[in-house]
Amino acid sequence: MLRQAAFAVALCMAVGELSSPALADTQLKIFISAQNQPDVWREVLDRYEVQHPGVKVTIETGGNTSELQAQYLNTVMSAKDPGLDVLQLDVIRPAQFAAAGWTSEFAGKNMSSYLPTYAEANTVDGKIVALPAFADSMFLYYRKDLLDKYKIAPPKTWDELKAAAKTVLQGEGGGDLQGLSFQGKAIEGAVCTFLVPYWSQGKNLIENGKLTFDKDAAAKSLSLWKSFVDEGIAKKNISEVATDDTRKEFQAGKVLFAVNWSYAWAHFQGKDSTVAGKVGVARLPALGNGSQATCLGGWEFGVSAFSANQEEAKKLADYLSSQDVSKFMAVNGALLPTYADLYKDRDVLKAAPWFSEALPVVETAKSRPVTPRYNEVSEIIRTTVNGVLAGVTAPDTAADQMQSRLRRIFR
Ligand code: GLC
Repeated sequence: MLRQAAFAVALCMAVGELSSPALADTQLKIFISAQNQPDVWREVLDRYEVQHPGVKVTIETGGNTSELQAQYLNTVMSAKDPGLDVLQLDVIRPAQFAAAGWTSEFAGKNMSSYLPTYAEANTVDGKIVALPAFADSMFLYYRKDLLDKYKIAPPKTWDELKAAAKTVLQGEGGGDLQGLSFQGKAIEGAVCTFLVPYWSQGKNLIENGKLTFDKDAAAKSLSLWKSFVDEGIAKKNISEVATDDTRKEFQAGKVLFAVNWSYAWAHFQGKDSTVAGKVGVARLPALGNGSQATCLGGWEFGVSAFSANQEEAKKLADYLSSQDVSKFMAVNGALLPTYADLYKDRDVLKAAPWFSEALPVVETAKSRPVTPRYNEVSEIIRTTVNGVLAGVTAPDTAADQMQSRLRRIFR
C-alpha cells in the first residue's frame, strides 16, 4: 500500500517536472452531494489524478438535501456559470436538466452494462444525458439485537411494525428510544415517504403523462404516517426530521426502525456508531394487504453544457461511472452498484452482506413521476406530508388539497 502511494507520488513528480504548466493544468470542478460520501469520492478522484497527472479535480458540495442542492444548481446553471464541470444529479433531475439544455450529450456511449433502470433514467429523447453514479432505494433498517431479544421477525406490514415497536418500546421501559424514524421534513425524501404506502395500494400518481391521483389512497398514506406520531411510535417533531437526522439518531442507538437509503449502512458500521453489528435491513413494509413497494433513488453524473473542459469532464464522468469505481463506492461507502454483477461480488458482500438481496428491490423500485415540472410536483407532495405531520392539516383535507394542486399542473 505504502509502496504504491510512494510510487504514485514519484510518478506525479516525474510527470509534473516533464509536462508544461499548461498541460498540468486542467482544473475540473465536480459538484457532489454532501450526503453522498464526498470524502469517499475524494479517494476515487485522488486515484484519477494519479492516473492523469495533468488533471486536478476539486469537489464542491451543496446543501444537505437533494432539493437544496437542486436550488443551488438551478441558480448556477440558469446563469450559464462555467464554474462547474461535472454535476452529480439526483435520479429525478436528468430529464429536467436535459430539457433546460444544461447538460452535454454522451454521444455513442454504450449503456448496456448498467442496470436498465439507470440506463433509462439517463436517456432523454434518445440522447444519453448523464451516466449512473450509484443506485439507490429506500429500505427498512432495524435493530436486529432488539428484535431478537423480543423474538420478533422483521415486519412485512406497517401494522406488524407498529405492534413490534409497541412491544419493544414497552419492554425497554421508555427512555429516548423511538419506534420508527422517517423523513417528515418538507424535503425531497418526504415525496418518497408519501409515495411508498400510496404505491403499496396499487395506485400510481401519473400514467402516460396523465394524473391518476387516488384521493382515498393518498389519505390512507398520510393517515398512516400521522398515526405513528399519534401512537407515540415516531417522535412528536418528526415533521422536522430530514434523511440524515434519521441516520444520525439510528446510529446513536435511539431508533428501533428507520426508513432510509443505502448510504446509511456504511455510517452504521463505522467507528463512531453505537449500533455496528446490530443492524438488519429489510424491504419496506406493505400497507394492509398491499404489496411491499419502495422508491427508486440514485445519482448520476452529468457534464455541464457550460464547462470549458468538455472532453476532460466527460472522461472523468466516464471513469466515475465505471464498474471499478462502482465497486469501490459499494465497499467503502455502501452505495448500491449500478452493475448487476457487483451484487454478487465477494468484497462488496463482505462490506454490506445485505446487498445480496438488494438487487430485486432496486429492480422493482418505483420511480417518482417523470415530468419536466417535477420540481412543482415535489413541492406539493413534500409540503403536504409535512403539514399533516406537523398537525396543521388533517389527512383527508390534505389529500383534497394535494389533488387540486396537482390538477393545476396536469391540466
Ligand atoms: C437519496 C436518493 C435520492 C433521493 C434522496 C432524497 O439520496 O438516492 O434519489 O431523492 O435520497 O432524500
